[in-house]
Amino acid sequence: MQAQSVAKGRLGNTTKYSLGSEDHEIARLDAQAALLDRATVMLLRAGGIRRGMRVLDLGTGLGHVAFAAGDLVGAEGRVVGIDNTSRLLGVAVGRASSYPQVCFVEGDVRTWRSEEPFDAVIGRLILFHLPDRLAVLRHHVAALRPGGLVVALDFDLGSIRAEPPVPLVDEAVEWTNATFLSAGACPTIGARLAPLLAEAGLADVQSIGIQEYMGPDDPRGARILCGVMRSLAPHAAAAGIAVPEHLHYDTLEERLAAAMRASGSALLFPALSGAWGRRR
Ligand SMILES: C[S@@+](CC[C@H](N)C(=O)[O-])C[C@H]1O[C@@H](n2cnc3c(N)ncnc32)[C@H](O)[C@@H]1O
Repeated sequence: MQAQSVAKGRLGNTTKYSLGSEDHEIARLDAQAALLDRATVMLLRAGGIRRGMRVLDLGTGLGHVAFAAGDLVGAEGRVVGIDNTSRLLGVAVGRASSYPQVCFVEGDVRTWRSEEPFDAVIGRLILFHLPDRLAVLRHHVAALRPGGLVVALDFDLGSIRAEPPVPLVDEAVEWTNATFLSAGACPTIGARLAPLLAEAGLADVQSIGIQEYMGPDDPRGARILCGVMRSLAPHAAAAGIAVPEHLHYDTLEERLAAAMRASGSALLFPALSGAWGRRR
């Protein structure tokens, strides 16, 4: 398996990622990853990702977490990123040239398994999207070496808000949460990671969340929220969920930013929660 190529696993009975893989979703994932970069490295370190480890990154997308783990495990370690959206994986592969310790595999995280055990299984913003998240975790816990780690990172969308409150922010978040729920996602999974890991049989489970506070003039929060709504729109249309006129993402970003500035509100971007535990 080479860093520059995608090895294909079996893709039968696969799920479709509700946010798609259009150019605007790739740009949104990049913007979101830039925002989450520091918190991700802090949580991976706190969870125990170290030099020399062999690590599996579930739902790797554009590979941001696989590359961050690649820096932590160093040249003597190994990171395998797995995803079932070919277009996203293709971008990850194109960025891998300076990471010989990182490779990518196309496959379904619900069924894919390596012949060699891993020291750690990690994943950011993947359990969020999987209705069968407990079964997926158990599947990968069984493939860890004894004492091996799971480090799961995910959003708690229950923690997003403007302070002082901005009704337009609340309504946009409410629409987004309802649409994610209709796709089988769990928008508050970040707050539920620790019990989920314990239920999957892991020991010594701990969990911490990191939340960024953005000032009234910071455009990033409104941009990413509108980007999520735009990427969710095809799923919403297919599920018969209407977008109210005043929440249409084409003009919402500007109106959200203006409302935040007018009330001098800070946006509390959703907390990125990390939870980790080890195989008994
Ligand atoms: C929100 S993105 C997160 C990407 C990356 N982990 C990050 O944090 O930037 C979720 C990713 O999970 C992938 N995914 C969803 N369901 C999957 C499945 N059943 N098997 C493999 N990948 C899956 C999607 O294709 C997408 O790349």
